[in-house]
Amino acid sequence: MNIKNICCIGAGYVGGPTMAVIAQECPHIKVTIVDINESRIDAWNDENLNNLPVFEPGLSQIVQETRDKNLFFSTDIDKAIDEAEMIFISVNTPTKTYGKGKGMAADLKYIELCARQIAKVAKQDKIVVEKSTLPVRTAEALKSILDNTGNGVQFQILSNPEFLAEGTAVQDLLNPDRVLIGGDIDSEEGNEAIQALVDVYANWVSQEKILTTKVWSSELSKLTANAFLAQRVSSINAMSELCEKTGADVNEVSKAIGMDTRIGSKFLKASVGFGGSCFQKDILNLVYIAQSYGLSEVADYWEQVILMNEHQKNRFSDNIVSTLYNTVSGKKITFLGWAFKKDTNDTRESAAIKVADNLLNEQANVVVYDPKVSKERIYADLEYLNTRFSEVNRNLLSVENDPYKACKETHAIAVLTEWDEFKKYDWQKIYDSMNKPAFLFDGRGLLDKESLEKIGFVFYKIGVG
Ligand code: NAD
Ligand code: UGA
Repeated sequence: MNIKNICCIGAGYVGGPTMAVIAQECPHIKVTIVDINESRIDAWNDENLNNLPVFEPGLSQIVQETRDKNLFFSTDIDKAIDEAEMIFISVNTPTKTYGKGKGMAADLKYIELCARQIAKVAKQDKIVVEKSTLPVRTAEALKSILDNTGNGVQFQILSNPEFLAEGTAVQDLLNPDRVLIGGDIDSEEGNEAIQALVDVYANWVSQEKILTTKVWSSELSKLTANAFLAQRVSSINAMSELCEKTGADVNEVSKAIGMDTRIGSKFLKASVGFGGSCFQKDILNLVYIAQSYGLSEVADYWEQVILMNEHQKNRFSDNIVSTLYNTVSGKKITFLGWAFKKDTNDTRESAAIKVADNLLNEQANVVVYDPKVSKERIYADLEYLNTRFSEVNRNLLSVENDPYKACKETHAIAVLTEWDEFKKYDWQKIYDSMNKPAFLFDGRGLLDKESLEKIGFVFYKIGVG
């Protein structure tokens, strides 16, 4: 099957970058990304590329080269579904906030709406690709909805989970470690559909990196990959606390263990806690699935990764309070960074949110500077927690566009995101403008302890005893 038209439902952090790269690497394919969110689509179509809804290094150039040539952003979902031979579903799959599985299971209502819309509109056979991260066996539910339309259209369901990380999305898409495609490997039609998607990726990914599997293995591999990555972060964060108590340095420990090729050096950076839209949600989903099969030991094992992460965020804010003589009430505390990692404007589940919430409970005056995150986003993140009235958040927390202004006359600075620019600041100037003693809490292990202590800072670096 030769694919000429692709539709992607969901123009978010995954749909936007993945489809932009497909459009660039496959100029013979017309790619249309659709979304119900009109303002998001308008932003993707904005002439000013600085206004794209997703910030990713290298993305705006690709959008500039492909947009309105073979890459289109639209709210006309029915038309795009009708035209496409292959439809990617890339909508959000957040943790359920209601009913059975509340706070644990993935909320599949957006996925189901997509399936029903495809079923309603499709007049010709289509390949439907799960790009969103989904619980194992979701393809079964999708197939049931799609096959019961009664209009004789044949659907093949593929699972093609996305492994990109934010901040490096474009590079991850251009040079993936692997591309995973799950499908109905037992039928001829299933294998044809798998081959059609393999052919799309083969335009720029070498064949040996394209893995084809049973659909259930593909769905479960995505949850497993995120669980393993998050587990490494929680493991090293657990050791960071022990390092602080014993006088060891977690960075030295990471290096020492990472040189063992069986362990590997990546994902061993201690931090104030992992954030991002997926690690927590996907592990909670995994725990829920394990529980629903009665596998309580499996569920408890993975839940510990989340519990450790919560502890890491709480102990960071507790340390600030206890170091500042057990009271931060009325004290100015400056946050450098709000995003969940550098090089993204995404703040979902960022550790900064929880740390700020804890400090606001102690009546601190938090001032935030982040090079990419807007003031309204920061307030929205806090309001989502529902801990206190919106006006109280706005009274206690302010947002600055200038880092030096944010640090002026502050009692303490906390580094919450590892933005490169923080390393280049004039730290002497910042020190001179601060209240003394000048406390600096580095939750990312980013800054140089020796030179900052020489300036006069009371410096805390995560995991260094
Ligand atoms: P997102 O919230 O940024 O984007 C999802 C988009 O889907 C939104 O713009 C929303 O308006 C749209 N949408 C929802 N329902 C719709 C419908 N019925 N019709 C049309 N549009 C609809 O989410 P995201 O970060 O892009 O994540 C999407 C999926 O990919 C999730 O399952 C996530 O777990 C997975 N994933 C995310 C990342 C990441 O780095 N963010 C990486 C790998 C996988
Ligand atoms: C993660 C995975 O890395 C992707 O493969 C996956 O596709 C994606 O989730 C997803 O499914 O959404 P992402 O969350 O964008 O990607 O970013 P990561 O680089 O994985 O970082 C996640 C969090 O862990 C960040 O807060 C980061 O600061 C933290 N982290 C990461 C550490 O604290 N230490 C590390 O060593 C690595």
